[in-house]
Amino acid sequence: MAVPARTDALDVIVELLAELDRQPAGSGGPGFYDRLCTALCTVVNMERAGLLLYDEARQLVVPVGSHGMDAPLLRDIYGTLEETPIAQVALSEDRVVEVSGGLGRWVPERYAHFPGVETLTCTPVSAGGRWLGVIFADRGGAQFELTDAERHAMWTLGKTAALAASVRIATSQQGRARLLQARIDLAREIHERVVQRLFGVSLVLGSEHGLSEEARKRCADEMQAALKDLRDALGRPLAPPTLDTGATLDGELERLGRHYKDLPLELDWERGVVVPPEIEPLAQSVLAEALRNADKHARPSSVRVRVGRVDGAFVLEVRNDGARSDTRGTGMGLRLAAVEALGRGALVEFGPEGSEWRVRLVVPVEEEDE
Ligand SMILES: Nc1ncnc2c1ncn2[C@@H]1O[C@H](COP(=O)(O)OP(=O)(O)OP(=O)(O)O)[C@@H](O)[C@H]1O
Ligand SMILES: [Mg+2]
Repeated sequence: MAVPARTDALDVIVELLAELDRQPAGSGGPGFYDRLCTALCTVVNMERAGLLLYDEARQLVVPVGSHGMDAPLLRDIYGTLEETPIAQVALSEDRVVEVSGGLGRWVPERYAHFPGVETLTCTPVSAGGRWLGVIFADRGGAQFELTDAERHAMWTLGKTAALAASVRIATSQQGRARLLQARIDLAREIHERVVQRLFGVSLVLGSEHGLSEEARKRCADEMQAALKDLRDALGRPLAPPTLDTGATLDGELERLGRHYKDLPLELDWERGVVVPPEIEPLAQSVLAEALRNADKHARPSSVRVRVGRVDGAFVLEVRNDGARSDTRGTGMGLRLAAVEALGRGALVEFGPEGSEWRVRLVVPVEEEDE
């Protein structure tokens, strides 16, 4: 029994890796992770498997692939490492963990009561000391014990998943490095073209003699040219394309609402307003930062999320009271959101207003999108 299982696992892994190789950089999309879960179920006889990876943007572990699980069930799964001891053990000891009975001690309270799950396994997805995620798998709830060969196959598949995930992460890090370079280039270009022109103009305007008609005309031309250079430079996309996870704003609202259990969230979604698909990722990232901040920098008695239309623009607004003065942060979150928005022709405003703190995303929407 043991030998065939191992050969199977090896075949499967080679096959999966060959596919990964064929896919362009930044692969490891849901398709790949789904196939990996299917492979795991086939090789070690599991009925259900779900692969979760840490998503930096949302600071949450989110499902990226599965086999044999209900879609709604999977969509709703989220969590942090702190509240999931089974994953802590799997990752810190780099081994497949199986627990039988008393699931409440091992997984977040909200999942401990899944009907009839006797035995659950957790496979680490880690490589080079980086903890990337875990794979949960079971045999439809029944109790069982893993053999060494099964453990080994699962562990190896976990490494395969980690390899794919690292490729994706490395690609996004290269993306960030490119982005930084783009910003440096922009600063230089603005300096060399725009600032130099304006400097010339200021010299002429500041001279003590009256302006000749010709000099006045030249100043006006230079100003026009400077403005054009500035517009061109700023028109370039500066923010990285946001990772489109296929999630939706209202799905994220629910998920984040459960994550920040202590935030008294109220939702006011104007009737008939839909989120234009192209701004979904932006809206979600602004929402995530606003709620993260409300949790971190305030002790609110209310957090109101409003989604609506104002003068043809899509508006997402998050307001909270109870701002605290004793918190510290790096002060980057909202600025980054503002840059990301600018790159898409949108605006993020934020700041205190009366006794409240407000974050507002305003996106002009084309009429045809109505
Ligand atoms: N919901 C809020 N309630 C009260 N104060 C807030 C709120 N959101 C932001 N602030 C204030 O604005 C500052 C800037 O927020 P921002 O999200 O840009 O950075 P940060 O949260 O401090 O750090 P980072 O997001 O980079 O981890 C915060 O440090 C805090 O003082
Ligand atoms: Mg923040």
